[in-house]
Amino acid sequence: MQNFAQYADWAYLIGAILFILTLRGLSSPTTAVAGNRYGMIGMALAVAATFFVAPNPAMLLIIGAMVLGAVIGLYRARTVPMTQMPETVAMMHSLVGMSAVLIAVAAVLNPDTNFSTVFRFELFIGCFVGAITFTASVIAWGKLSAKLAAKPLKGFWVKPTQAILFLAMLGFGAHYFMADSLQSFLIMTAIALVFGYFWIAPIGGGDMPVVVSLLNSLSGWAAAGIGFTLSNSMLIIAGSLVGSSGAILSYIMCKAMNRSLLNVLFGGFGASAAAAGAEGDGVEKNYKSGSAEDAAFMMANADSVVIVPGYGLAQARAQNAVKELATVLKEQGVTVRYAIHPVAGRMPGHMNVLLAEADVPYEDVCEMEEINSDFASTDVVLVIGANDVVNPAAKDDPTSPIYGMPILEANRARTIMVIKRSMSPGYAGLDNDLFYMDKTMMIFGDAKKVLEEMVKGVTGGGH
Ligand code: TAP
Repeated sequence: MQNFAQYADWAYLIGAILFILTLRGLSSPTTAVAGNRYGMIGMALAVAATFFVAPNPAMLLIIGAMVLGAVIGLYRARTVPMTQMPETVAMMHSLVGMSAVLIAVAAVLNPDTNFSTVFRFELFIGCFVGAITFTASVIAWGKLSAKLAAKPLKGFWVKPTQAILFLAMLGFGAHYFMADSLQSFLIMTAIALVFGYFWIAPIGGGDMPVVVSLLNSLSGWAAAGIGFTLSNSMLIIAGSLVGSSGAILSYIMCKAMNRSLLNVLFGGFGASAAAAGAEGDGVEKNYKSGSAEDAAFMMANADSVVIVPGYGLAQARAQNAVKELATVLKEQGVTVRYAIHPVAGRMPGHMNVLLAEADVPYEDVCEMEEINSDFASTDVVLVIGANDVVNPAAKDDPTSPIYGMPILEANRARTIMVIKRSMSPGYAGLDNDLFYMDKTMMIFGDAKKVLEEMVKGVTGGGH
């Protein structure tokens, strides 16, 4: 088997190229499937090559674990509903963190390990980043799946506790690094596990998607750190790709919400925004409501309709219903497009994934920058379960907590229709003036049900 080891570097190089092509492919819906395939081939190649470079692989143990992992993974992949993707991703990151910790602990306990200074440094970093990622991801999973309270942990003692734990973790890690003390290494690992909890528990459930993306990044860096420990170039490259893409994604999400990463991690935004929204201005405002049939009649007689999907579309699983509505409208000669806000829904690309699931043609799906200038000449905007991403306060009201967040300018269309179940606020807890405009009609109900009624309405009348 050792004869094959010389080929491992080639396999790793090809694997690394395939991983880069994967990221490239995933950047557009049209190439995403090919991107996924590159990733699968790259990963298979990397795993196979690892068998040949390991000095004495315990074949039965490794293959047994891989078969078990594959069965659980396949089952989960086939059964997970789209709305549970964020928590599933969080759970997977916890496994990456845990692997980094186990590899580091195994290396420290291995009597054959050559403990150079650089090696100890790699172990120290890889292990504590992995340990923090593990606990933090488990807490993120718990909050997202409502198995743990999503409410942020609060109190004057929280920040000092975080600081003390962080410094203690670094202190014991530094002692391990300098004195090669196994005890300090294990204490550092234990503190890092506890710190992971105190780091994430004060963050509200709604901010978890950004946190998950950041943990994705951390799990990548932990893997890269352990790649140095194991002198495995594939792990270093793959870890760095995951680390940097997770960091870029966190940045993009924060930018689309007009918030800094520090504000997400230490700001407690959900709570303060909800309080601001709940206070309101005390004035009873009027709104108009109509039936799905009225709305269908108006859309069927329009020239152009832009659909703005939001979290409610995912919640109602109404992606097929919206596609059907678009199809029947197009049959009536109406131009139908979709406008996607980068943080609509609860995870990056949430709306794109839903629409792709329903086979909506990619050319009908427009990004925010692309479509914002077209709203003024659009006859009807149909907002489906979206709220914050079309809130004009983000543009007009400097006192609003979301002021500065880029929005889809649905308020500029000639007629606005909004499907939601009530006048309740969205994620940011804010009232939305769009719903009270003279040209706005609210259509109350579950998005899927309303859309199905609209389809009936359109097929019953029109041009
Ligand atoms: P939201 O502002 O959260 O509004 C969603 C609306 O959907 C609610 O007002 C709700 O009103 C309605 N809704 C819920 N279930 C429904 C159903 N079954 N049928 C019809 N309507 C339903 O959503 P958005 O506009 O998509 O904005 C996303 C928010 O999440 C932003 O504030 C964003 O910053 C935040 N966020 C996003 C991400 C990512 S990456 N996407 C990450 C973190 C935070 P009713 O209850 O009245 O029905």
